[in-house]
Order: sequence, then C-alpha cells, then structure tokens
Amino acid sequence: MFVKPQTSPKPTKEDESLDLTLRPKTWAEYVGQEKTKRNLEIIIEAAKQRKEAPEHLLFHGGSGLGKTSLAYLIAKEIGANIRVTSGPAIERAGDLAAILTNLSEGDVLFIDECHRLNKLIEEYLYPVMESSKLNIIIGKGPMAKTMELKLPRFTFIGATTRAALISAPLRNRFGATFQLDFYSQEDIEKILQRSSRILKVEADPKALKIIAQRSRFTPRVANRLLKRVRDFAQVEGKGVITPDLAQKSLSFLEIDEIGLENGDRRILRVIIKKFEGGPIGLQALAAATSEEQDSILDIYEPYLMQLGFIERTSRGRMATKAAYQHLGIKYKRDQDLLL
Ligand SMILES: Nc1ncnc2c1ncn2[C@@H]1O[C@H](COP(=O)(O)OP(=O)(O)OP(=O)(O)O)[C@@H](O)[C@H]1O
Ligand SMILES: [Mg+2]
Repeated sequence: MFVKPQTSPKPTKEDESLDLTLRPKTWAEYVGQEKTKRNLEIIIEAAKQRKEAPEHLLFHGGSGLGKTSLAYLIAKEIGANIRVTSGPAIERAGDLAAILTNLSEGDVLFIDECHRLNKLIEEYLYPVMESSKLNIIIGKGPMAKTMELKLPRFTFIGATTRAALISAPLRNRFGATFQLDFYSQEDIEKILQRSSRILKVEADPKALKIIAQRSRFTPRVANRLLKRVRDFAQVEGKGVITPDLAQKSLSFLEIDEIGLENGDRRILRVIIKKFEGGPIGLQALAAATSEEQDSILDIYEPYLMQLGFIERTSRGRMATKAAYQHLGIKYKRDQDLLL
C-alpha cells in the first residue's frame, strides 16, 4: 500500500480545513519571515500614503511556507477584496478577461502556481501589469481588431513553488519579489503553541519542541503532525500531549528525529547504493525510486538540500557525507569527491 508521506509540505484534502482553521489572521500571528514582513509593511504603508494600490508582488518558496497566508493578510491590511485563482485554472484569454473585468479598484488578485500560466495568458498579462490595460482581440483573421480595455488599478499577487520556471518578462513586471525560507525551530514552536490553543489541546512545551524538530521547518507540516499527535494522545493517553507521547506517535508514523520519512530515506539510499553516491540525473533518480520528478523537486529535495544531505551539481544529485552518516552507511569517497 502506498502511504502518503506525513511530512510532505503539499496540502492534502484534509489539510485544507486545517489550513483554514490555523491560517494566521493578523500580522502578529504570522510568525517569522521578518525581513519579508518588514519590506511588505513599508510597501503597504507607502501605497496607503499615496492612496494607491500596492505594487504587484511575487512570493516564491516551498509549499506550506506561508505564501497564501501572506496574500490574505495583505488584502486584509489594505481593506481589499481578494480574488483567488491559479495558473492552470486560467486556460483561455476569455477566462482571464472574465476575471480581470470583474475586479474593482484596489482589489487583490491572487494567482497561485503562477509558473503554470500558459504563454498566451502571460502575454495578455504584460500590459495589464504595466498599465492596467487589457488588449482583447475581437474576431478572427484579417477582420480581427484589438480593443483596449482600461482596468481598475489592482494588486496582482503571484505565488509559486518554482521560481526558476517563471519567465523573465513576467518576473520583471512584479514590483517586488520575496522568497520565503524554511522557519527556525523557535518559530515553528511558536506556531505550534498557537495551533494547540486553537485546536484546544494541552501540550507540554517539550513535546512541541519534539514535533518542531520533525516538521521540516514548514508550518503546514508542523500543524499536520500536531494534529496526528493529538489524535494519538487522545487514544493512547489522557488527551494531553506529553514529550513521551509525541515521541511515540512520531516514531509510530516512522518519522525520524530530523523529520525524514521512508520516502526520503529511500531516495538517499538509492543514490548511495545504486549510484554510488551520485551524481545522478533527476530522470534516472525518479525512475529508480518510482517517484514522480515533481515530487522529488517539490517534496523531498528542498528539505534534503536544506539538511545538506543532497548536493546538486551540473552532473546531477549527489549524496553528501552527512547523508551517509545519517543512514549509518560507511562513507568512502573522500578522495574522489573533488568535482
Ligand atoms: N508564518 C506563519 N505563521 C503561522 N502559521 C503559518 C505561517 N505560514 C504558514 N502557516 C500555516 O501553514 C499553513 C499553510 O500555509 P500557506 O497555505 O500560506 O502556504 P503556501 O506557501 O501558500 O503553500 P502552497 O505552496 O502549498 O500553496 C497555513 O494555513 C498556516 O496554518
Ligand atoms: Mg498556497
């Protein structure tokens, strides 16, 4: 049976309601990402003073790190309506026109997964982003005419997990771009404290520390693990999350002390055992592990790289000494590691 990893940062159906319940409602509740928050504060304040909509903003960073939450907070801060859509949902120019012509002055348009906007839609977006003008083509062939529609001034917020896939012309049209990083252990503990209050579960701070250590420093994963541990505490204990219960339930879920699951360990083991530590290309790695390339790129690799277990070189992925050590495999490549 294929078990979906507990530590995948990607939202599951079940997470959608958890995300909603636990989504920060105020800036104070939005923990961490201090530099981004400070910059946004200035952009928003300056726009308020000029009585204008803030410039278009692009957020990139791994799944579950807080991009959507930021977009909602910004809309709330400027008292705007937020319209939410995603790159793949806008298939035709007509879809885009329908969205844009329904916007009101000062609205926020949030486009998630904007690396998946198709080329044609992107091209329609350029003049929209530059000067709030939408050029629509009416009719076909030699009779076709271009009509220019003036749109209200709005703020486009784009989010993506794959900054590299955003074309340069689109990227350049955002007023500011922010990268969201993995959180610190302390920040995740703070998030878990708030979440346990909202979920009305009593948790020992030491237990929250244990959960935070295994959360891949990603708020969504931390909250999901908290929920799992809460269930475990309810069934196996007295409903209170103690360090012992946290430890037990997470090892029951086969999540190790640094947040790795079977899928992560399998990837490392394949690189080490089958490919002698690498380098190995993405395609070959996907085939050898029966994982999709996208899962490797979005779920496994960012955290394995953050841990320093995988290095990406021009010739492919390599397992580092730290990865060998974590798996308890003897490392014997000191000589030929020089690339
Ligand atoms: N800075 C934060 N402070 C507190 N909670 C956070 C923070 N960032 C994220 N969260 C929690 O994690 C959940 C997921 O965050 P969010 O939906 O904003 O991530 P995302 O970057 O949009 O992910 P995806 O790329 O999958 O869309 C939120 O609902 C919230 O509960
Ligand atoms: Mg999101």
